[in-house]
Amino acid sequence: MSKRYKVLVIDDNEWIRTTLKDLLATSGYHVDIADNGETGISKVKSKCYDIVLSDVQMPKIDGIELLKQIKVYDSTLPVVMITGFPTVDTAIQAMKEGASDFITKPFRYEQVNMVVDKLVKERGGTKKGTQTSKKAKQNKTIESLNMKLNKKVKELSLMNSISESMNIPQMSSEDLFNKIVKVATELVDADGASILMIDNMSSELIVKAIKGKGTKKEVDSIIPIDGNIPWKEVMKGKHLVISGGNGFRKNMAVKGMNKSNSSVLIPLKIKDNVFGVLNVFDKLAGGKFGQEDVKLLLTLSRRASLNIENAILYESMYANLISTLQSLVAAIEARDRYTQQHSQRVTQLSVKVAEEMNCSQDDIDTIKFAGVLHDIGKISVSDSILLKKGKLTEKEIKVVQTHPVVGEKILYPLGLLPAERAIVRHHHERWDGKGYPDGLAGVAIPFLARIITVVDSYDAMTSNRPYRKAMESKEAINELVRCCGTQFDKDVVDAFKKVYSSKFFPKTSK
Ligand SMILES: [Fe+2]
Repeated sequence: MSKRYKVLVIDDNEWIRTTLKDLLATSGYHVDIADNGETGISKVKSKCYDIVLSDVQMPKIDGIELLKQIKVYDSTLPVVMITGFPTVDTAIQAMKEGASDFITKPFRYEQVNMVVDKLVKERGGTKKGTQTSKKAKQNKTIESLNMKLNKKVKELSLMNSISESMNIPQMSSEDLFNKIVKVATELVDADGASILMIDNMSSELIVKAIKGKGTKKEVDSIIPIDGNIPWKEVMKGKHLVISGGNGFRKNMAVKGMNKSNSSVLIPLKIKDNVFGVLNVFDKLAGGKFGQEDVKLLLTLSRRASLNIENAILYESMYANLISTLQSLVAAIEARDRYTQQHSQRVTQLSVKVAEEMNCSQDDIDTIKFAGVLHDIGKISVSDSILLKKGKLTEKEIKVVQTHPVVGEKILYPLGLLPAERAIVRHHHERWDGKGYPDGLAGVAIPFLARIITVVDSYDAMTSNRPYRKAMESKEAINELVRCCGTQFDKDVVDAFKKVYSSKFFPKTSK
C-alpha cells in the first residue's frame, strides 16, 4: 500500500480495539483508537481520518449517536458500524444515519480488510483527503458560528427566564432584592452581590440584600456616600468595573481579599434617575469581570429597575391603604369611649400570648397585621346599634354578628393572606361550636383566631360598658377559665394566665 490510510477504531472493549488495530496495521493502515464515543468524536474533529470503525453499543454516547455527530461534522467520512447483536432495526437506523457498512462480531480478518479497503478506495485517496480537510475547515467555521449563535440563544433564553422569574405579581421588594442578587451572581459566576438603595434624606446607601462568602455587612446596614470617586460616577448613572483592594471594598460590604478583588457597580435607574446600585463582586474563577459580564448585568439591571419600581410603588400603595383601614378602625372605636383603642390592645396582648405559645414569627406578624383590623366589619353596623346605651335586641345582635363576614369581604380584594383573613372571619367562633359566623368547633377554628377570641373577650369584660361596669382583671380571668372547653381553647387560656402573671400585663381596667 503506497499511501498509509488512517483508520480510527472506537470501541469500549479493549480486546476488540487492539485486535482490530493489529489486524489493520498488518495490512498497512495507520490505526488510531478511542475507548468511548466522546474521545472518538474529539479525535475525528482534531485529525484527518479516511475511515472510522465504531462499536454500536457503548456507554454515554452510543454508536448511532456518534455516527450522527460524525456525519454532522463531515458527511463524507465513511463510518463502519461494528456490532455483536445485529438486528434489522439497528442496521436500518445506522444506514439511515449514513453508516457505510456493517461488520458483525466475531469478525473475520478477510471481511474487515475487504470492507475497509473498498471504502477507502471509494473515498479517492489523497485528493479526496485534501478535499475532506477543506471540508473539515469549512465545518469548523460553521461550528464556530453555530457556537456563537447557541451562546446568543442561551443568553436570550436566560434573560427571558430571569424576566419571568421576577415578574411575579405582588412579590415583596425584599424577595425581589434577594432574587436579583441571586440571579446576578449566577449570571456572571460571581461569589457575591448586593443591592444598595439610596436614601435621599441622608445621602447614604442602605444595604437591601446581600449574598457572598466574604460579606460582613447585613441588610439595613448603612454605607456612606463619601468622597470616593467611584460613587460619584455611579450616581451619575455610569457603571464601573473595579479591581484591586483600594479601601473601596471596605465600604462595599466585602471583607478580606478574595481571589480576584474585582467588583462591578451597576446603577439602578428609572429614566435617568439613579435610585440604587447593584454591586457584584469576586468572580469565582478569579480574574476581572469582562465586557460580557457587564453586558449581562446591565440587561439584568434594566429589567430589575422596572420590577423594583413596581414593587416599591405597590408596597407604598398597600401600606397607605392598610394604614387608612387602621385609621378607620381607630375612628370607629373612638366614637365610643368604651371601645377606644380596643383593637390595638387586643393585638398587643395577643402577640404576648402567641409568644408564650411559641408561635412562629410568621404567626406573630399575622396577628400584628390582622389583629388591628379584626373588627373592621363594624363599619357596616349603624351608629344607633354600635353606640346604643342600653342592651341590644335580638335583631340588633344579629346585625352586629355580621361584622366578621363583612370584615373579611372588605379585606378580601386587598390580597391578605388566608391566615390573616381567618382571624377576621373567625374571631367570634366558640370552642363548643356555638359561635358565629360558621359554627366551627375545637381545633377546626383557626388557631390564631382562637388566640384573638380569648384576648378580645378579656378586653371586652375589663372595659366599662354603658349597661355594666368593667370587671376586675382577676374576675375576668376566672371567667375565661370557667368558659374553657365551652367558649375558649384551654391551651390559649392557660397561656393567657401565664402572660397575666408576667410583669408585662396591664392590671388596670379601662
Ligand atoms: Fe369582633
